[in-house]
Amino acid sequence: MGAREIGVTNAAPMGCLPVLITLFGSHSNECVDRLNNDSIDYNKNLNKTSQNLRKILPGIKLVVCDIYQPLYNLVTNPSENGFSETRRGYCGTGLLETAIICNNMSIGTCANASNYVFWDGAHPSEATNKILADTMVAADIPLLMS
Ligand SMILES: *[C@@H]1O[C@H](CO)[C@@H](O)[C@H](O)[C@H]1NC(C)=O
Ligand SMILES: *[C@@H]1O[C@H](CO)[C@@H](O)[C@H](O)[C@H]1NC(C)=O
Ligand SMILES: *[C@@H]1O[C@H](CO)[C@@H](O)[C@H](O)[C@H]1NC(C)=O
Ligand SMILES: *[C@@H]1O[C@H](CO)[C@@H](O)[C@H](O)[C@H]1NC(C)=O
Repeated sequence: MGAREIGVTNAAPMGCLPVLITLFGSHSNECVDRLNNDSIDYNKNLNKTSQNLRKILPGIKLVVCDIYQPLYNLVTNPSENGFSETRRGYCGTGLLETAIICNNMSIGTCANASNYVFWDGAHPSEATNKILADTMVAADIPLLMS
């Protein structure tokens, strides 16, 4: 419809989201490879589609902003960025509660989210979002502005 500067985030490492480890992790606390592979497949296709669009749409700036790798790095190497909790979200038990199930009545919510990679079972915490945003500003915005 005429838009020519587009940034699109790719898929997160789904297998590392606390709620999906709880549901599909076979009682392990590790990221679920099978689900991460699905994200990687999706992201490969997103890359391909974006390349095709760049060929057929003159003057387009279409940037795929990578969420997968920075979030994966935080989950697998939390201490490097000052995080200590990756398996549980901050809200409630942190193992299942997601979105509206997560609220100020959730039992077990901790006092300080700053060491938590995840806010709830699926969504990054404010501290994580800051790192993801900084990564995008550094890596992707220049490509859109160039
Ligand atoms: C995920 O992909 C890796 C690399 O292609 C492969 O070695 C591994 O077997 C896959 N794991 C699952 C559970 O599909
Ligand atoms: C998508 O393309 C980016 C930039 O070229 C690359 O860094 C990334 O590894 C690719 N992702 C996948 C899943 O192939
Ligand atoms: C919980 O949040 C709701 C909506 O923001 C608010 O109206 C309510 O007072 C809060 N309750 C407590 C116990 O903080
Ligand atoms: C939360 O924890 C961080 C890191 O330990 C600390 O810097 C910060 O002051 C704490 N915030 C509150 C409100 O206690």
